[in-house]
Amino acid sequence: MNKGFVLWFTGLSGSGKSTIADRVKEELLKKNIPIEQLDGDEVREHLTRDLGFSKEDRDENIRRIAFVAKLLSRNKVGIIASFISPYEDIRKEVRDSVTNFIEIYVNAPLEVCEARDVKGLYKKARAGEIKNFTGISDPYEEPKNPEIELKTDKSSIEECVKQVIHYLKEVYQLDL
Ligand code: ADX
Repeated sequence: MNKGFVLWFTGLSGSGKSTIADRVKEELLKKNIPIEQLDGDEVREHLTRDLGFSKEDRDENIRRIAFVAKLLSRNKVGIIASFISPYEDIRKEVRDSVTNFIEIYVNAPLEVCEARDVKGLYKKARAGEIKNFTGISDPYEEPKNPEIELKTDKSSIEECVKQVIHYLKEVYQLDL
C-alpha cells in the first residue's frame, strides 16, 4: 500500500541534491509510486518568486513549500523536495508538520561544491556579486540526525540513489 512521505534533500548549492532527487523520482515512478517533485530553482520562479535569501525569506520559502508538501503527503503522495534549507529550526518545523519526514543530508565539502560550480554562482559570490550566499557569506547548519546521509564526493550518483531506495524499502518498508 502507498503511504505518503517527504524525502527532504538538504545541502549546499552544488552538493548534488537535484541530480539525485531526479534519479530517485525516476526509480519511484517506475514502481508506480505517486510522486510530486519540488525543487528550489523551479519553486522560486513560481510559488516563492517574491522571496530573497535573508533568513526571514528563506524561512518563508520553506514554510510555503512545507504547506504544499503537507497537503500532498497526507493524500499518500510521495514528495521529493530539494532545497538548501540551511537552518535547523525551519527543517525541524517541516519535520513536525508533514507526514513521514525523511531528511536526506546531501553532504559534500564546500571546496568540492565550489570547484564544481555548476551554475557559476560561487565565483560570483566570491567576487561579492551575490550577497548572503550559503557557504560563502551565509551559514549552513548541518543536520545532526538525518535519516540518510549521502556523501557525494565519495559515492557515485547511482550509489546515492541506491542508498535512498534501500532506505525506503528496508527501513520505511515501502512496497517497492
Ligand atoms: S533556501 O535556502 O531557501 O532553501 P533554495 O533551495 O530555495 O534556498 O534556493 C537555492 C538556489 O537559489 C540555489 O541553488 C541557487 O541557484 C540560487 N541562489 C541565488 N542566490 C542564492 C544565495 N544567496 N544563496 C544560495 N542560493 C542562491
